[in-house]
Amino acid sequence: MNIRSLPSPARFIVLLVLGSCCVACHSKDHHCEPSSCGDIRNISYPFRLNHDPEKCGDSRYNLFCENNLTVLYLYSGKYNVRSINYENYTIRVVDANVREDNCASLPRYSLASYNFSDEDPYSMFLRRGNTFWDSERFELSKPIIFITCETRQVNEPLSVDTAPCIDVSSGHSFINIGSLIASDLRDSCRIELMVLTSSWIGTNSSYIDIHDGLLYGFELSWLRSYYRGGYWRELFDSNR
Ligand SMILES: *[C@@H]1O[C@H](CO)[C@@H](O)[C@H](O)[C@H]1NC(C)=O
Ligand SMILES: *[C@@H]1O[C@H](CO)[C@@H](O)[C@H](O)[C@H]1NC(C)=O
Ligand SMILES: *[C@@H]1O[C@H](CO)[C@@H](O)[C@H](O)[C@H]1NC(C)=O
Ligand SMILES: *[C@@H]1O[C@H](CO)[C@@H](O)[C@H](O)[C@H]1NC(C)=O
Ligand SMILES: *[C@@H]1O[C@H](CO)[C@@H](O)[C@H](O)[C@H]1NC(C)=O
Repeated sequence: MNIRSLPSPARFIVLLVLGSCCVACHSKDHHCEPSSCGDIRNISYPFRLNHDPEKCGDSRYNLFCENNLTVLYLYSGKYNVRSINYENYTIRVVDANVREDNCASLPRYSLASYNFSDEDPYSMFLRRGNTFWDSERFELSKPIIFITCETRQVNEPLSVDTAPCIDVSSGHSFINIGSLIASDLRDSCRIELMVLTSSWIGTNSSYIDIHDGLLYGFELSWLRSYYRGGYWRELFDSNR
C-alpha cells in the first residue's frame, strides 16, 4: 500500500488506521466480479446487488436492480443510483419520484441531516485534508426547502418562485436554498418539503434549474463501510 498514491480524503483515514488498527482489522476475502445493472456497470465492494452471492459486498450496502435501474432504499425513501465513485467514497442518488419529463415532480419524502445518525452506513459529510487533525468535515449537498405561504411577500430572501411548475391554488409557493432560520419564516408559512442537491444552485436560478438540481441528485459518503467493531478498518487491501 502506497499512502502517497491515495486520494487525499483517504490519506488521513489510512494514517488513522495505521495508528489504531490491530486484531480487529483482518482483511476479509471480498473477491467477487463487479455486478452491473443498467448504467451502473461497476458495482463493487462494499456495494452488492440483492441477488449477488452472500459473500459479496457488505449487506449494509445492498442495492436493487429494478427495471434496469439501480435502486437504493434509504430510510423510507427510494432513490435511483446515478453513480458510484470509488475514488472519493461517494454515491450519487436521485429520488425515484423526480421525473425528467415533469418539472412538477417532487421527491416523495423529506431528507435532511436529521434523518442520518452516526451509525448509519451513509453520511452527508466527507472530510478533506491530509491528516485527521488537519482535516475539515464538509457537507456533500445543500438543502432545498419548499415553503408555501398564504400571501406573497415582496422580498423573500434567497428564494425562487416554483410557478409555473408548481402552483398552489391559494397562496404562494417558493423555494429557499441554503440555510433557513426558523425566525425567517412568517406565521402564514409552512415548510412542505426539505430535500438535498449536490448541484450548484444560485439565488438567481429559475425553478427549472432547481428541478435540474433535483434530477442531478445528491451525493452521500459511504466511508462508514470501513468502520467495523470500533475501528476504522484498513481502507485498501493491497491485492484489490
Ligand atoms: C439496460 O441498460 C443498459 C445500459 O444502459 C442497456 O445497454 C440495455 O439495453 C438496457 N436493457 C433494457 C432491457 O432496457
Ligand atoms: C426524514 O425524517 C422526517 C422527519 O422524521 C420524515 O418525515 C421523513 O420521511 C424522513 N425521510 C425519509 C427518506 O425517510
Ligand atoms: C471498478 O471498481 C473497482 C473498485 O474500486 C476498481 O478497482 C475497478 O478498476 C473498477 N473497474 C472498472 C471497469 O471501472
Ligand atoms: C466525487 O467524484 C465524482 C466523479 O468523479 C464527482 O462528480 C464528484 O463531484 C466528487 N465528489 C466530491 C465531493 O469530490
Ligand atoms: C447569476 O448571476 C451571476 C452574476 O450576476 C451571473 O454571472 C450568472 O450567469 C447568473 N446565473 C443564472 C443562472 O442566471
